[in-house]
Amino acid sequence: MSETKLIHTHDLVKTYPVAGCEFVALKNVNIDIGKGEFSGLVGPSGSGKTTLLNVIGSLDIPTSGSVTVLDHNIGSLTHKQAAMLRNQHIGFIFQTYNLLPVYTVFENIEFPLLLLGKSADDRKKMVNDALEWVGLSAKADMRPAQLSGGESQRVAIARAMVKKPALVLADEPTANLDAKNSHHILETMEKLNAELQTTFLFATHDEKVMQYMKRIISLEDGKVVKDETK
Ligand SMILES: Nc1ncnc2c1ncn2[C@@H]1O[C@H](COP(=O)(O)OP(=O)(O)OP(=O)(O)O)[C@@H](O)[C@H]1O
Ligand SMILES: [Mg+2]
Repeated sequence: MSETKLIHTHDLVKTYPVAGCEFVALKNVNIDIGKGEFSGLVGPSGSGKTTLLNVIGSLDIPTSGSVTVLDHNIGSLTHKQAAMLRNQHIGFIFQTYNLLPVYTVFENIEFPLLLLGKSADDRKKMVNDALEWVGLSAKADMRPAQLSGGESQRVAIARAMVKKPALVLADEPTANLDAKNSHHILETMEKLNAELQTTFLFATHDEKVMQYMKRIISLEDGKVVKDETK
């Protein structure tokens, strides 16, 4: 595989058992995403966007076919290897945020850096930078329950980007943000993309997000029906 190809799927199929049958959520998906791409998955609700992000992010495994991410074959990784791949190289922004309620905003963003064994000084600097990126420096000591939906989403964005991973997978990252915050966050992501060649893959319905995308991959009923590079 070429070094610049970050994600490669080959005839990827994902099925889920539902009421004694197999529901096919992804049908023979073939996509290649290169290092430094800024791309979006679009499509109706239920078309398979989250499922595809989860398999690419090694949170789920293919039923058949293959997915290669940073030269790792996702279907053949042990749990430990998959966790290492995620900790080191992938930042997730989940559709449902997944913040840890007992930790403060600062601690939630710091968490991936603890997994990487960063020093306290490095962690403080990196978390403070990430808080600035998302405009939440003043809320570092609050807990998720004290935040608005949009603020929680921004904490999740900061947590995904704080370690400057090779790949950021973002599931509807702006769903709860007003226009001003959406543009600010997307500009921050564009900057990371330009400066560090961070690869971004979004799932989105949001026209504001789509304007920023350099490539749009459309899914319908688990199939890629269009793939356009601007
Ligand atoms: N764990 C599961 N068990 C059974 N079916 C599932 C499971 N996860 C997803 N599905 C089904 O797979 C299909 C694709 O779901 P997915 O969450 O990927 O859609 P989506 O494109 O992200 O939709 P949305 O825009 O609403 O977030 C849906 O029909 C969903 O019901
Ligand atoms: Mg989804």
